[in-house]
Amino acid sequence: MVHLEIHPVRPDEAPALVAAGGQAGYIADRLARQAADHGVLLAAWLDGRPVGCVYLWLEDAEEEEIRRHLPDIPLITHLEVFEPDRNQGYGKRLVRAGEQELHRRGLAVAALAVEYSNKRAVRFYERLGYQDWGREFVDCNRRDWHEDGTFTDTPEKCYVFTKSLTDAPQD
Ligand SMILES: CC(C)(COP(=O)(O)OP(=O)(O)OC[C@H]1O[C@@H](n2cnc3c(N)ncnc32)[C@H](O)[C@@H]1OP(=O)(O)O)[C@@H](O)C(=O)NCCC(=O)NCCS
Repeated sequence: MVHLEIHPVRPDEAPALVAAGGQAGYIADRLARQAADHGVLLAAWLDGRPVGCVYLWLEDAEEEEIRRHLPDIPLITHLEVFEPDRNQGYGKRLVRAGEQELHRRGLAVAALAVEYSNKRAVRFYERLGYQDWGREFVDCNRRDWHEDGTFTDTPEKCYVFTKSLTDAPQD
């Protein structure tokens, strides 16, 4: 039976994570934030092989509307399950692990932004109990990191979803 383990990424695990999912600059950036206690980079490992990751953003949100309406609310960001391993429940397991980590830190609500045309991700989060915050779309910035460490920023319109963590299933 396969064994999925989810834990905060250690610096020595970064090369394996980058080999599986690319975006070396992104991983380096998030590990630096994690080291400063600004967030948590969780990765899922299947029998020792990385299959996906998610970053828990604990700093002030970058988007002014989110900061204003959801102050001090953590964001579940940049969830990705690498291509060959999708549709096997790992995305759900990563989100649940993120929720548990936030809950353990005494946080009662989680939020996230999802690009409005990403129907699959919208449906995925709705099934996990996330609800639209009932306000306008938010203009977010998607940052794609390149092999050479540079990045491209692309504006995108996002739904914002929230979920109470106090009644989240702890499976
Ligand atoms: C969105 C994303 C993270 C979901 O990850 P995933 O591992 O495929 O998600 P899960 O397997 O937990 O659930 C996805 C689907 O698989 C189904 N599923 C879950 N467990 C399953 C299993 N054991 N066997 C077969 N299907 C399963 C679920 O019913 C779900 O169906 P749905 O698409 O109709 O909602 C993944 O598609 C991804 O990385 N997308 C690109 C990046 C992205 O869009 N990220 C979100 C940014 S906000």
